[in-house]
Amino acid sequence: MPQNKTLLEVKKLGKRFGGNWAIKDVDISINQNEIIGVIGPNGAGKTTLFNMMTGFLKPTEGEVFLRNKDITNLESHQICKKGVSRTFQIVKPFSGLSVLDNVMVGVLNKENNVSKARKRAKEYIDLVGLSAFIDAPASSLPLGNRKRLEVARAVATDPEVIMLDEVMGGLNDDETVEMMDIIKKLHKEGLTILLIEHNMHALMTLSERVVVLCYGEKLAEGTPKEVSSNQKVIEAYLGSD
Ligand SMILES: Nc1ncnc2c1ncn2[C@@H]1O[C@H](COP(=O)(O)OP(=O)(O)O)[C@@H](O)[C@H]1O
Ligand SMILES: [Mg+2]
Repeated sequence: MPQNKTLLEVKKLGKRFGGNWAIKDVDISINQNEIIGVIGPNGAGKTTLFNMMTGFLKPTEGEVFLRNKDITNLESHQICKKGVSRTFQIVKPFSGLSVLDNVMVGVLNKENNVSKARKRAKEYIDLVGLSAFIDAPASSLPLGNRKRLEVARAVATDPEVIMLDEVMGGLNDDETVEMMDIIKKLHKEGLTILLIEHNMHALMTLSERVVVLCYGEKLAEGTPKEVSSNQKVIEAYLGSD
């Protein structure tokens, strides 16, 4: 038997808000240590997809599987404990807490020893390049650094899969390159990564495979090269942006 490398899978996933399907009939299968990009126009359902995969929203239809186990109805903290972590499009640090304490909250998800947790938190802060701001209140950070903090907080839960929702949104060119380097490092360390990103260059450079959503449905899927030359994708999205 060939080894099944599938780590995370959604099957016939759907979410209805009132009369509208934000996501409808979406199947995606994600392999271990893959980087998958998710693109689509505003309102395509990308964040809703992430919300359902991480337990922040219950699907109207369909299932989510982690290592072939159904996690559809687990709560977000349970899914996090199982190794699926995410960032939020609208960054949500505990603004009264320092950078260090924000990251420690993530580490303490699994680590009970406070001094060990502090040590690990410092490593994650270093990884995202925030060491100079370790004692700064999160609320004092400009957007670029808040996005880094958001990534550090997600990684601090020691995940296998990390889902990044527009972590480059609002960043300047230098900050974008730095964030791409952070993502490459995480990938090298063995993480499986899902990326929602409007920066096409960054997304296409980082992703091994790209899923295109449009009006809640999966319009296309393939290598960056395949989707960027796909006529349906060009008409629905790339050409119009
Ligand atoms: N909590 C919600 N209640 C009602 N409608 C929602 C909610 N969240 C998202 N939607 C709607 O679902 C659609 C998809 O939104 P979203 O997943 O945020 O798209 P994207 O992240 O691709 O921009 C949009 O039409 C949005 O207005
Ligand atoms: Mg979104």
